[in-house]
Amino acid sequence: MEYIVINGQKPLHGNVNISGAKNAAVAILPASIAAGDVCVIDNLPQIEDVSNMINAMRSMGVRCEFEDEHTLRVDARNMTGQVLEEKYARNMRASYYFMGAMLGKYGYAEVSRPGGCDLGARPIDYHLKGFTALGATCSQEHGVVKLTAEDGLKGANIYLDCPSVGATINIMMAAVFAEGTTLIENAAKEPHVVDAASFLNKIGAKIYGAGTANIRVKGVESLSGGDYTVLPDPIEAGTYMIAAAITNGDVTVENIIPKHMDSVTSKLKEMGCAITEGDDWIRVCGNNEGLRACEIKTAFYPGFPTDLQPQMTTLLCTAQGTSIVTENVFDARYRYVNEIRRLGAQLKIEGRVAVTKGSCTYTGAEVMATDLRAGAALVLAGLCAKGETVISEVGHLDRGYGRFEEKFRAIGADIKRIKKA
Ligand code: EPU
Repeated sequence: MEYIVINGQKPLHGNVNISGAKNAAVAILPASIAAGDVCVIDNLPQIEDVSNMINAMRSMGVRCEFEDEHTLRVDARNMTGQVLEEKYARNMRASYYFMGAMLGKYGYAEVSRPGGCDLGARPIDYHLKGFTALGATCSQEHGVVKLTAEDGLKGANIYLDCPSVGATINIMMAAVFAEGTTLIENAAKEPHVVDAASFLNKIGAKIYGAGTANIRVKGVESLSGGDYTVLPDPIEAGTYMIAAAITNGDVTVENIIPKHMDSVTSKLKEMGCAITEGDDWIRVCGNNEGLRACEIKTAFYPGFPTDLQPQMTTLLCTAQGTSIVTENVFDARYRYVNEIRRLGAQLKIEGRVAVTKGSCTYTGAEVMATDLRAGAALVLAGLCAKGETVISEVGHLDRGYGRFEEKFRAIGADIKRIKKA
């Protein structure tokens, strides 16, 4: 078993280079199987979800070769099947993208229901409703979703009940080859939706309006190949920005798109952090007087991201005064709270609302990561805690953060990974 061990209370200083975005990479890789030629995808983060995605592609005969540690050459011209086995689908949420990509290109897909972090109910009904509206037949047996469209897909108007990231990208991928025009209304606007659309457009798709609530896809007969660079990860960047605040440090996150960070930047400013930004970097400095409480409501982009809620709530527990956090996206994203309580956090949860007492001083203890962002929150608490924090179940972190300990060590953290029987 692997554990992360942190000796806290070391202010962080220095620069962190942010990797490519996990949630863009795990959409672009499956989208690349729809290409008609070789694709070279750059700025891939070195994380488990990307390795799992590549293994899944290889299992269906897609040739994937690394040109360097961040650059993958994908050749899907001789794909051998459109059936994704359960062992590949279960270990990541993004395996659902094989449904849209394969249905669009081949008119057939068999994919086990996806796994991923346990954040409460995570249905895929919008994805399936969208495929059905495009003319596919969807059925499910023994946990496997089977999609067929023998006569091809036909463009349709699809309204999403809520702007789901996964459903937007999945329907967009299927619609790329549908006859006529598809309109996705109430579409997600997240940067990785725009990135997936930009990749598909680069190889010949006709997708208009990504980044707005109305995405229009004009069907094409085939796609080419091409090169693409994955956008920087706003959630990784936000995690290091909050790390600077919680350790009263001075950290610059580099290779980012500052606009994507607006909701985080404005909340950290409101709390009293000093923030400066340039074209592709943001510098966050803590505050010797201590930080102030504030109110956070998670929302779809450009709102405050649910994927930074655990890290932000962990920070707010240390601020002066009572903060109120409302989690509006997932119904069970407070599972980490019992763990940060072990480190000294004082907060109450009522349904979707967390109320922090504030002014807590974390003290090290043994805790367990319950999911990816929960693990990140525990690392942040450990970094500012008095004494030693030992975190178990760190495999969750490897799914989404590349070289996590190494990047923290480079800016002054006392953090290491150990193996124990
Ligand atoms: N929803 C439905 N039906 C659906 C799809 C979604 O009811 O068919 C609901 C969900 O239950 C949830 C809301 O819609 O309440 C939003 O879910 P969404 O589909 O946007 O989330 P997702 O596609 O499952 C992606 C990211 C998550 C991130 C969310 C929200 C990937 C692979 N995952 O999940 O990332 O939290 O969007 O931004 O892109 C993470 O990186 O830690 C992570 C969990």
